[in-house]
Amino acid sequence: MNEHTLRAVVQGALRDGKDNLRGGEKPKELKNEWKDCLDDVIKISDTLSTSLGPLGAEKILTDGKHVAVSNFAATILRKVRVTHPVAQLLIEMCESIDKELGEGSKTMVVLTGELVKGAKELLDQGFHPLTIAHSYIEASRKAVEFLDSIAVNEDPLDRGTLLRVIKTAMSQRLDDEDGDYFADIIAESLLGVVDQASAKYDVDLSNIKLLCLEGGAARDTRLVHGVVVEQPVVNGFMPKRIENARILLLSAKAPPEPEKFPNDDFINRIEIDDPKKMEEFRKEYDALLWRMVNKIESIGCNVLFHEMLGTHSIHERVQAYLGKRGILAARFVDEEDMKRLGRATGAKRVTAFWHMSEEDLGYAKIVEEREVFKPELTDPRIRWIFVDGCRDPRAMTLVVKGLKTSAANTKRTVEHALRSGSAFLRDPRIVYGGGAVEAVLSFRLKEWARGMEDRRQMAVMKFAEALLAIPLLLAKNCGMNSLDTMIALNNRYASGENWYGIDCLRRGLRNMEASSVREPLIIKRRVYESAAAAAMVMLRIDRMLKRKESRDREIPESVTKTEGYKQTVGKK
Ligand SMILES: Nc1ncnc2c1ncn2[C@@H]1O[C@H](COP(=O)(O)OP(=O)(O)OP(=O)(O)O)[C@@H](O)[C@H]1O
Ligand SMILES: [Mg+2]
Repeated sequence: MNEHTLRAVVQGALRDGKDNLRGGEKPKELKNEWKDCLDDVIKISDTLSTSLGPLGAEKILTDGKHVAVSNFAATILRKVRVTHPVAQLLIEMCESIDKELGEGSKTMVVLTGELVKGAKELLDQGFHPLTIAHSYIEASRKAVEFLDSIAVNEDPLDRGTLLRVIKTAMSQRLDDEDGDYFADIIAESLLGVVDQASAKYDVDLSNIKLLCLEGGAARDTRLVHGVVVEQPVVNGFMPKRIENARILLLSAKAPPEPEKFPNDDFINRIEIDDPKKMEEFRKEYDALLWRMVNKIESIGCNVLFHEMLGTHSIHERVQAYLGKRGILAARFVDEEDMKRLGRATGAKRVTAFWHMSEEDLGYAKIVEEREVFKPELTDPRIRWIFVDGCRDPRAMTLVVKGLKTSAANTKRTVEHALRSGSAFLRDPRIVYGGGAVEAVLSFRLKEWARGMEDRRQMAVMKFAEALLAIPLLLAKNCGMNSLDTMIALNNRYASGENWYGIDCLRRGLRNMEASSVREPLIIKRRVYESAAAAAMVMLRIDRMLKRKESRDREIPESVTKTEGYKQTVGKK
């Protein structure tokens, strides 16, 4: 068969819609409405694509009453009203990436959009959706294989690399000076709480408490080497500031002395049948309260945090007695904060009151009640307790400051950077950003696809093109010409020069090894896998089943002629 005849046969097969890879089965015809739904997915990705990268545009979000500015994928998409459930599916996937990785959600959505664009072209040529879906998954696996092979191993405790990873994740959302300051305190908090005992350098991010306070500038953000407890000092007679604090964490209801009241629940059981006994009881009870305060004082405690245990609180008289002894106390401290306080100060949580000892106490250089401003509250001036200057704090607090919208955005930026930094500590393999990694993978995938001998090759090529869209969009978003960039990138890779990407700040092509743009391998890997999986889900759907007159937004996974369901194919 000569080349001409071969091409005619292939084109004929494509036109007829026969799919040789699926054993000759006919592809399901795609109704126009269904293609419209894929268009919705593409529209969402196009909306986000202009916000990709450090010079990506911000979006103004408004519901008519409130206005916010953001360029975080999940925040933007939460406000987007979509008509088609498949587009809703993409939004949900983006949110789950945002929750799971905290980074890379825009890249994931844009990549999914590009994959869907490519798939649409192939569908028009008569490809079976499943062929495309499976080829995409195959391509993503190969891409991940290449990714693992090109990733660079770094030292997890090398502060320089950690700072670069953090700054890349912040993606210029803060200006340069603020960016350096934030990167520094984020690295400090991560290295402070990282589990250096395990070989894996795991970071439990719940040990870094993130609080957001309106007012001041981003630069007023502070890293507290300890915990900020969102409770005031419980009693006005107590001191508001203690230096060289010796901290007791009490996680028990104040129980009576075991030898006096062996049943422990004496208050429920006591029976008073004579008024004289009442007085006796009061005295005894008061003496007990004093003994409790004496016990607390005897072990050397000068700061007490009492865990929230139902509505149980510190007895009012105990509060007053503690105040007299110069002990600062807070109540209703939530469990998470109690754990953090333990990690930060070295205190052990006491559950058996009369058995506690000096060894259970923790240390902080200073414990102080400070006024903070929360404009959203009816009474905006509230007081929190700052436990600071802990010796080897294994839990810390970042108090982010800024004006209304910018404080919220700064907090989100810090969250992204913390997630990216912790991913790097867990697995210190990195790749070079600015689209360099996507360009390398794209060219490698194309080379690999050339060796394929069937139509999967075309789908893998589309996957490679979708990857290349990332550096091209980064270039476009910083004002470079996409076509020139593509040609330049092609030339670089053709001449064997790897790691070329877009230096957005200098607006040019650059070997990204020489830049400081670094991304953790594990985040990139999940982003590519998720984009391929999202495209696969979209391509595998051929019917939408809508519940009749239902307010339920849930779409049933599969329904077989169930009463009450109306089958609508791609209807909006
Ligand atoms: N200074 C820089 N120069 C070039 N590229 C950069 C720079 N900083 C970040 N990037 C690149 O920008 C891209 C990430 O952009 P962005 O943070 O807007 O999207 P995302 O991480 O996918 O989404 P999100 O942060 O909303 O979850 C990555 O490809 C990264 O390598
Ligand atoms: Mg990002």
